[in-house]
Amino acid sequence: MLVLVTGGMGYIGSHTCIQMIEAGMTPIIFDNLYNSKSSVLDRIEEVSGQRPIFVEGDVRNKADLDKVFSQYDIESVIHFAGLKAVGESVAMPLEYYDTNVNGSYVLTAAMRDAGVKSLVFSSSATVYGDPASVPILESFPTSATNPYGRSKLIIEECLTDFQKVNPDWSITLLRYFNPVGSHPSGRLGEDPQGIPNNLMPFVSQVAVGRREFLSVFGSDYPTVDGTGVRDYIHVMDLSDGHLAALNHVGKKAGLHIYNLGTGNGNSVLEMVAAFEKASGKPVPYKLVERRPGDIAECWADPAKAKADLKWQATRTLDDMTQDTWRWQSNNPNGYPEV
Ligand code: NAD
Ligand code: UD1
Repeated sequence: MLVLVTGGMGYIGSHTCIQMIEAGMTPIIFDNLYNSKSSVLDRIEEVSGQRPIFVEGDVRNKADLDKVFSQYDIESVIHFAGLKAVGESVAMPLEYYDTNVNGSYVLTAAMRDAGVKSLVFSSSATVYGDPASVPILESFPTSATNPYGRSKLIIEECLTDFQKVNPDWSITLLRYFNPVGSHPSGRLGEDPQGIPNNLMPFVSQVAVGRREFLSVFGSDYPTVDGTGVRDYIHVMDLSDGHLAALNHVGKKAGLHIYNLGTGNGNSVLEMVAAFEKASGKPVPYKLVERRPGDIAECWADPAKAKADLKWQATRTLDDMTQDTWRWQSNNPNGYPEV
């Protein structure tokens, strides 16, 4: 089974490619290396025993995509490629709409022209905005509070409209909660450029000594200890969710929407404590003001994915923190440049 994986050199895509290879699928990675390094390919090969086909290209460039679709007999597409930093999206909205929305449009048009009718799209729990209650069901109303979230929402809506008039297509929207962790080998992981925006990469850089302390954004939320609560999901579980989607609904015509989360929430301070335990290193922190746009708590109801995709998260919080630490301590500066 040949699957085009846009953004396959990135954090979630690279882990998914390993799981695909191990399941006997053949990923073809399509990535412009905007936020990833080519040495990821060596690591995928080292861990999985197979070097995936890699095509350097941009999802906004239809000629690049047409060429791949004509060269390979592609059955399905997993579309990870995109920009993902909320703060940056506020500062550079046009770039976010161009890469995320226009990129998804060009990709879908290239698929249509090539007769490929199976698409799995990386969406986010951000499309639920500030949910009225938790756990969050797929049927909850959607909204956006920043250009990143709005780009995901626009893509979801475009794909929904498109699927309505192309009922033989299978389009799956996977709404990820908070991906963390690394491959258990310690050879692949999250390699943010510059100052990390997300909690776990920041915590692990504090533990490894690259940063002095963590700023905990808000300690007066109505939560277990006043800090924000999120549904952290191991990237290996998330990757498995993509294989489950391909296997169970990838050939089933329709629009399919699933939460990929664990169904559990953990606070910032719980994550810090779990990380200190896994690493044996202190993680100094300071309680500071809330981060604008943050919500108090957010976790998934993952029952729909369990019922339809026969998938559920199995890795524990200890797995997430131990695997993150193995990656961070073995690769304190991320992937080599090469
Ligand atoms: P990432 O930045 O590590 O990977 C994205 C990959 O896409 C990178 O390798 C980058 O080089 C590539 N890319 C960017 N623009 C491109 C373009 N124009 N053409 C081709 N390739 C391009 O991000 P990730 O964490 O692996 O996220 C993957 C997807 O999942 C994104 O769409 C993101 O919005 C979504 N998502 C991520 C999270 C998260 O916390 N990591 C949460 C929810 C949703
Ligand atoms: C963020 C994005 C969301 C995206 C998700 C991907 C925002 C507002 N939202 O969500 O759109 O889909 O990442 O995983 O950025 N925290 C700290 N100190 C830090 C960093 C984070 O205390 O240095 C806290 C946050 O306040 C939050 C929790 O840690 O309570 C998780 O934050 P983060 O990893 O940025 O994820 P989200 O805010 O859930």
